[in-house]
Amino acid sequence: MKENNIDLAFIRGILREYEGDDHALIEILQRAQEHYGYLPEEAIYEVSRIKGIPPAKILGVATFYTQFRLRPVGKYLIMLCKGTACHVNGADGIEKAVSEELNIKDGETTEDGLFSLKTVACLGCCSLSPVMMINDETYGSLTPEKAKEILRGYKARGGDAE
Ligand code: FES
Repeated sequence: MKENNIDLAFIRGILREYEGDDHALIEILQRAQEHYGYLPEEAIYEVSRIKGIPPAKILGVATFYTQFRLRPVGKYLIMLCKGTACHVNGADGIEKAVSEELNIKDGETTEDGLFSLKTVACLGCCSLSPVMMINDETYGSLTPEKAKEILRGYKARGGDAE
């Protein structure tokens, strides 16, 4: 198994900590994701090899729980709300605008690794609907055009922004 740029020492360390514990798979995957930002294939194979669990079983667990990501997320994670209030106020149009502007769909990341799009059920600020968050920033009362403008601002900042 090639190791790409993944630092497998981390996952090996975690696996040593959980040696003999056959019920810690989710915890191991959570800690791996915290460290890598997602679950790299190489880390999954390492867990499989050391724990003796078939990779397909680990992948099954990782895809069952929505908290796990199998691909790296972009520098800017767009969480687009599709909860009831946002839906009623035009979230579908916002999603379409974001997809058009970035050429990605829900769950995808742009080729340059800058943006990932994820739709969510409610961001807890329904009075601002329709809403999206980009990393820690909240943008409310969106229109498709406003959403595109916001994204263009991030694009202009590129990979240098915070
Ligand atoms: S439904 Fe969108 S923030 Fe609550």
